[in-house]
Formats: sequence, structure tokens, C-alpha cells
Amino acid sequence: MSIQVKSINKFYGNTQVLHEVDFTCEKGDTLVLLGPSGAGKSSLLRVLNLLETATSGQLHIADEHFDFTESINEKSGLQLRRKVGMVFQQYNLWPHLTVLENLIEAPVKVAGMNKAAAIEEAMTTLQTLQLADKADAWPLQLSGGQQQRVAIARALMMKPEVLLFDEPTAALDPEITNQVVKIIKDLSGTGITQVVVTHEVDFAKKIASHVLYLEKGRMVEFGTHEAFTRPATPQFAEYLTH
Ligand SMILES: Nc1ncnc2c1ncn2[C@@H]1O[C@H](COP(=O)(O)OP(=O)(O)OP(=O)(O)O)[C@@H](O)[C@H]1O
Ligand SMILES: [Mg+2]
Repeated sequence: MSIQVKSINKFYGNTQVLHEVDFTCEKGDTLVLLGPSGAGKSSLLRVLNLLETATSGQLHIADEHFDFTESINEKSGLQLRRKVGMVFQQYNLWPHLTVLENLIEAPVKVAGMNKAAAIEEAMTTLQTLQLADKADAWPLQLSGGQQQRVAIARALMMKPEVLLFDEPTAALDPEITNQVVKIIKDLSGTGITQVVVTHEVDFAKKIASHVLYLEKGRMVEFGTHEAFTRPATPQFAEYLTH
């Protein structure tokens, strides 16, 4: 199993935003997190790579184990970030670095990879995502869709076991969204486990092997792709009609 989340509770001050969240993902699964605004999707995603610490519960991800009732071991936290990549809606590319430099920055500076090897790896990754001709471009010279693909390429450079996406297509037009669909499906074929937050039901349907539907920080429905055609709860059925 690639991800196991057990009894996760998360408070911001006195406000509880996640209640007893529990699920598992197998290697190569694509889990989509759906739910109304404020349901806790981003909070849950951020707990998965320790951008946020949960108040209680356990997390097992990419062979690292965390018990939030104890203090989190900093070393295993760093270990985890190398194996769990994140792609945001705002691509968060470094504007003062070229596309190629954006890709090799973390592998060289954080993971200590040899620079020539990193460049070679970066060029292969850019080729796969049809961006080879953009290696020397500055992020701001690229379209939104191209920037998002560079952000994905940059995350892939760390050879993640798990990739997390927070609304990766929110700023993209339908054609570019379909490119992201294809990238996510191809990555799933290579065994990368992916968790994707989105508001777009059509996009979710195309990529999901599994779906988790949240309302007010509580799991309402967890199921396979079949839940889109046969939702088990009236709440998820209702959500799907929007
Ligand atoms: N840093 C924070 N401090 C305090 N409250 C927060 C913080 N981040 C999120 N929240 C609250 O936690 C709840 C869940 O927020 P979260 O961002 O996880 O929702 P979401 O499902 O991702 O929503 P959206 O679809 O709008 O992105 C919201 O009520 C939000 O106001
Ligand atoms: Mg969010």
C-alpha cells in the first residue's frame, strides 16, 4: 500500500477542519478529492506531505510513517518531501530561473545530484512533456498550460513515489486540461500514486481510479471510479449534478 491515512483530525485553533479521515491508496492509484469550498481538501492534501501537521492520527506514505500524537521526526519529514511531490494551481515556478534551471535546482541543491546528470534527466523529462524547445525560456514567456507542465516536470525530477496536485487545471482551458489528463494517466501507468484535488467533475472522472468526497472536513463517500456512476450517498449524488 502506498498511502494509509488513519483517524486524521486537524484543528486550526479551535476550529476542526478534518474529522477522523481514513483511507488507503495502492501504488498507481489516482485518488481524486472532491467537495465544496472549505471542505478541507487542500488541508488534507497538505497533511499528506507534512506542509501541515495533523492534530492527531497516523499517516503512512511512501514507506515513511508518522504518528501525529507524537512529535514528527524532522529527518523522516525531509525524507518524505523527496518522495512525495506537489504541484499547485499557481505553478510556483522560480521566475528568475529558466525552465531548465527550475528543473535542476532541487535535484542538484537539495538531493546533491551531479549537474550534468540533472541536465540530462531534465531534458528527457521535458521531452516527455513536449517542452524540450522551452528549456531556455523564462517561466513568464510560457502559456499557463506550458507553465503547469513545467511544474509537473519539476516535480518529476525528484522521482517521486507519490504526486499531489491541488487544482492543477483550475486556470487552464479544456484542451490544456486534456493534456494534464493524459500526463496523469501516463504517470499512473508508471506506478506513481497520485492524489488530485479538483472542482471539475469531468476532469475528476477522466483521471480517478478512486474518489474521496468530503463535506465540512468529514468523509462522506469513498469509492472506486464506479462511484461517479453509482454514488453510494445522496450527498455525493447531489454534488455530481452540479
Ligand atoms: N491556515 C489556516 N488557518 C486557519 N484556517 C484555515 C487555514 N487554512 C484553511 N483553513 C480553514 O480550513 C477549512 C478548510 O480549508 P481548505 O483550504 O482545506 O478547503 P478546500 O476544500 O481546499 O476549499 P477550496 O475548494 O475553497 O480550495 C476552511 O474553513 C478554511 O477556512
Ligand atoms: Mg483548496
